[in-house]
Amino acid sequence: MRMQDAVNVEDFRRLARRRLPRAVFDALEGGAGDEVSLRRNRAAFDRIEFRPRPLADVAKRDLSTTVFGERLSMPIMLAPTGASRLARSAAEIAVARAAARADVVYMQSTVAAFPLEDVAASSTGSLWYQLYLPPDRAGLGDLLRRIAAAGYRALAITIDTSILGNRERDTRNRLMSRPPRPRIVLQGAGKPAWATDFLRGKADYLRGRLGTAPPDAPSQLSLDQTRDTIMAASDCVTWEDVERVRALWTGPLIIKGLMRGDECDRLVEMGVDGVVVSNHGGRQLDGVPATIDVLPEVVDAAAGRLTVFLDGGVRRGNDAAKALALGAAGVFVGRPYLYGLAAGGEAGVVRMIELLREELDRAMALLGAATVADLDRTLVSGARVPGA
Ligand code: FNR
Repeated sequence: MRMQDAVNVEDFRRLARRRLPRAVFDALEGGAGDEVSLRRNRAAFDRIEFRPRPLADVAKRDLSTTVFGERLSMPIMLAPTGASRLARSAAEIAVARAAARADVVYMQSTVAAFPLEDVAASSTGSLWYQLYLPPDRAGLGDLLRRIAAAGYRALAITIDTSILGNRERDTRNRLMSRPPRPRIVLQGAGKPAWATDFLRGKADYLRGRLGTAPPDAPSQLSLDQTRDTIMAASDCVTWEDVERVRALWTGPLIIKGLMRGDECDRLVEMGVDGVVVSNHGGRQLDGVPATIDVLPEVVDAAAGRLTVFLDGGVRRGNDAAKALALGAAGVFVGRPYLYGLAAGGEAGVVRMIELLREELDRAMALLGAATVADLDRTLVSGARVPGA
């Protein structure tokens, strides 16, 4: 199958699996432990049913929405993924350009191949920034100033990564071992298109061609540093850290990784603006519920005081429609755009986004929802709604 023939995210997944060495595909695809939460994210979407109102007038449809005062062409956005360089060496630059071309928000990860200023400079689109706190909190102010100066519009603190989840696929593959295991080198040799691109990226990195920020800036990590840095940099974000960031960051502040409603009051009191209901794509604590099952609880607890987003397992525009109907202001996709990136670089990400947009549009039309605001709980059944 060629990229032009891909008709859905699953097709892009197949293309990515074909192009990437097994250990690399596993690193993007895998979850933690027994991957129970990873599977739950998907299974829970499939359990929820649509209850359409087909007689509504949907001749003209509008997928746009407003979030934090910003007009978005649609409420599907790109989640932060630290390892995008494994998929393609153009990594965050390619994703940011694709997001701008497709007019969707891209939330860039702290764990990036390129300095945050370079990603921002390469894109005319709306960029948000995902923060892992620097181990030395004294550097926080400088980092936040850089993020704001580069033009990132919103900031999300990820709270579910006090230490790295138990990714057994990566442990078995010893992906990060130095020197690489012969088996990984052989896998790479068997995927020449990927290997050529990866080595070119590596050479650029070693020649210091990647950008202008100081090489030890928290946003520019070599792949070798990635694992250690995630573990050190994210060590135990606490309520005090949220307070500290709130005092320093004037733009919208989001907490990413909330999995219960009863923490909403405190977040509101602290001046947090939004939350992403997320279990890190099933990559952190295995055994937590599917995010779509927690969403209604958080939406009810937030009671309009926090903007609630969701990620985890969104593979269809129809999944996005279910989350929007249950009260999400928007959804993020992670792996789907990594598949697009692996399969076709920037163009692959653009195509993947357009497929999701077409699916969301079709789902809304068939549901009888002409606008995003028309998507409400009466259009779905089978969700875990508190008190229902
Ligand atoms: C992630 N995710 C993530 N989250 C975050 O806050 N910072 C990060 O650096 C990363 N890195 C990362 C790498 C890879 C390879 C994946 C797959 C995911 C989690 C991500 O933002 C998001 O929560 C999930 O990917 C959403 O689930 P789906 O869409 O992948 O099912």
